[in-house]
Amino acid sequence: MNKDIFAQVDTFLEQTFSLEDDVLIAARQSVASNGMPEHSVSANQGQMLYLLATMCQAKRIIEVGTLGGYSTIWLARALAKGGNLTSIEVDAEYAAVASRNIALAGLSDRVTIKVGTGMDVLNELKLDPEPVDLFFMDADKPNYCNYFDIALSMARKGSLIIADNVIRSGKILEPQSNDEKVLGVQQFIKHISADNRVITSVLQTVGDKEHDGIAISLVL
Ligand code: DHB
Ligand code: MG
Repeated sequence: MNKDIFAQVDTFLEQTFSLEDDVLIAARQSVASNGMPEHSVSANQGQMLYLLATMCQAKRIIEVGTLGGYSTIWLARALAKGGNLTSIEVDAEYAAVASRNIALAGLSDRVTIKVGTGMDVLNELKLDPEPVDLFFMDADKPNYCNYFDIALSMARKGSLIIADNVIRSGKILEPQSNDEKVLGVQQFIKHISADNRVITSVLQTVGDKEHDGIAISLVL
């Protein structure tokens, strides 16, 4: 199978649906031009996040892993009226790049970027009693189980907990991996599969990015 076909189809869909505007293109490019890891979600994945956030009428969104704010823009654009998104980024320089992109997108009034580790910031955010409608984890794979548990404690019935990069080019199948990211997602898949407070669907993804996967859990 020619893997290039996955990228070609992604491009075809991006163009057919006109998924990226200038703001999103600039956000994606800023990641590359600032020497940041090119781990932004693809445009098609961004559109899926937008769709899911719209479906659950999200008023409060939390994202772990801002990077350049590309997925942040997709998610924030789907916020219901008066809603807000908090995105957590451990790297202050990445957060500064993201902050500029969010401002260019005209979303600074509803997006807050917090610099710190996921767990530190989440422990602070969980003091707010307002439920989180959508939680997107996209950083620090070894902590995915912890993020999931805290997300569940902040959720309501019908909230979504979404996790990126859970397949890792099929490395999820390796029985004795010593890659901490692989171990993190292996533990995570086991953890959520055993949790009957959620219904989860894990989808493999191909396209612009490597073969990977996204886990979507609906809180019951
Ligand atoms: C990695 C992280 C990501 O968020 C991603 O989408 C792809 C790869 C990584 O850390 O390897
Ligand atoms: Mg990712």
